[in-house]
Amino acid sequence: MPNIEPSEVTGFKEGTLMNSSTDPAPSLEETALAAGPVDTGISIKHVPDTTETRKKICIVGASGKLGQYLIQHALNRGYEVVGVCREQSAVKLAHFGSRIRIITGPNDDSNVIRQAVAGCDAVLTVLVPFGMRQYALRTVQAVLAHAPPEARLIFSCGWHISRDGQDVYPLKFRAIVKVFGVLGRLTRFGDLNDQVQACNHVFASSARWTVVRGSDLEEGESQGVPVWSGHVGDAVLASNLTRRTDFALFMIEAIGNEALMRQAPAIVGRLSASALTHHTTLLGA
Ligand SMILES: NC(=O)c1ccc[n+]([C@@H]2O[C@H](COP(=O)([O-])OP(=O)(O)OC[C@H]3O[C@@H](n4cnc5c(N)ncnc54)[C@H](OP(=O)(O)O)[C@@H]3O)[C@@H](O)[C@H]2O)c1
Repeated sequence: MPNIEPSEVTGFKEGTLMNSSTDPAPSLEETALAAGPVDTGISIKHVPDTTETRKKICIVGASGKLGQYLIQHALNRGYEVVGVCREQSAVKLAHFGSRIRIITGPNDDSNVIRQAVAGCDAVLTVLVPFGMRQYALRTVQAVLAHAPPEARLIFSCGWHISRDGQDVYPLKFRAIVKVFGVLGRLTRFGDLNDQVQACNHVFASSARWTVVRGSDLEEGESQGVPVWSGHVGDAVLASNLTRRTDFALFMIEAIGNEALMRQAPAIVGRLSASALTHHTTLLGA
């Protein structure tokens, strides 16, 4: 179980989502900061809007490593959080105490998901292809069926998922996916095709989805929001490594990012060698 203390995650570097194909545009906040204060001669005091309601998000698969990072980032941003996890895993979320609401049950149980996503502004689903009973596909079906129509739906998966068949995979990557695929099916541990089918189901839907495709993952302090590209094989992704906490950070950022609507961004660490090289090239171009 990962040890996610608040001190580990509050120091992360916030950033905007950068698409490798364009020069990263500054966020509104960055632009405002760069412009500095403007003396209008009028004193404006911030009056808290008491009618403002907290946004509510549901995290399906909350007790896993990615799920716990998602919870922490969501709490840091002031979201109200509902987490779904298997009954035996609820103990892994005990350290969040009363800061989150937990609903226990299988991720692919329609009744569990209906209850969990009610009234949510966003649903973040950790897609896992465990077992041989189409766990990931059934989870997607439940989320799509029960999430409010306006909710942002963010799903996690790996680079092996391709939306349009235009991804170009290194030989080693293809070999690993093949071996894991065969071993998973033989041992009945999991079925990678289940995740493929689940994502195809998402791609075909008219919901407000984003499928975030993670590279290989490592633990460690946040480097900030990862950079992304539309296709595996693009030079910026070559390092194939992202901090797990930043995978979660990207999913949280995607909630409010309209440019990622119905996109399947493949991500890589913002400070990875390929990301740094690519941006140097862009800046010099
Ligand atoms: N690991 C990687 O290197 C990597 C790379 C790219 C993308 N990803 C993506 O990242 C996401 C999750 O990664 P992660 O590292 O956070 O994985 P993780 O910690 O292993 O958690 C995955 C989830 O699987 C659940 N789970 C475990 N055993 C299960 C079982 N037998 N039946 C049903 N559910 C079970 C866990 O729930 P419990 O807490 O209840 O066990 C947890 O919610 C996936 O979408 C994956 O495709 C991972």
